[in-house]
Amino acid sequence: MKKIRIDKILANLGYGTRSSIKKEMKKGVVTVNDEVIKDSATLIDPEKDELYYKDLLIEYQEYIYLVMNKPAGIISATEDYNQETVVDILIPEDQARDPFPVGRLDIDTEGLLLLTNDGKFAHKISSPKSEIPKTYFVKTKEKIEEKLIKKFKKGIYLINEDITTKPAELEILSDHTAHLTIYEGKFHQVKRMFEYTGNEVLFLKRIKIGAFSLPEDLEPGEYKEMDLEDLEKEIGI
Ligand code: URA
Repeated sequence: MKKIRIDKILANLGYGTRSSIKKEMKKGVVTVNDEVIKDSATLIDPEKDELYYKDLLIEYQEYIYLVMNKPAGIISATEDYNQETVVDILIPEDQARDPFPVGRLDIDTEGLLLLTNDGKFAHKISSPKSEIPKTYFVKTKEKIEEKLIKKFKKGIYLINEDITTKPAELEILSDHTAHLTIYEGKFHQVKRMFEYTGNEVLFLKRIKIGAFSLPEDLEPGEYKEMDLEDLEKEIGI
């Protein structure tokens, strides 16, 4: 693992701000491999070096993996001057780890959103090459016709990008509700696929990424941390 400043490690774990940690460290409350370290800018390897803060052994994990039930009304971005973002609703300790949303959900779309600071993992999930299925619950204005199943399977031509969508699976639940599974993530893809057929999406919620379903215990706006191994196993990658 690359070397990281002690104050960054402790601040990321919520032990204070970098400046308060700097002050504390001058008192000799930090040891690295049994040696007292007073300079908060000292670089250590969190995997190899044994870091103690006030007699507590510090376990540092570089990466964070969060599973959120995104509520409507907030945007899938890290920062925005005008709108609340999915990062804004994290607790400060988690924000300090610099997570970003994996892919995007529209401001009015709800449901399963992953956040991480692990670029490799994010790429694995959202790269068009990976073709990980994403399943949405859709409520529409007009009746969802049976013939749409075939149309979506064949692909819908999106004029802006001059591409045809990959075969998608539509499972009609009722006249106005369905599950749609897509294998890519073009801009407003689900809404545009329905729009093309003369229908309109009134409510959209992502319920699955790969084989991983939105955990039932997460209310909109809630999230939980998972470890990479479990998450990848659930998704099926
Ligand atoms: N498709 C959409 O149209 N919107 C989303 O947020 C996700 C998929």
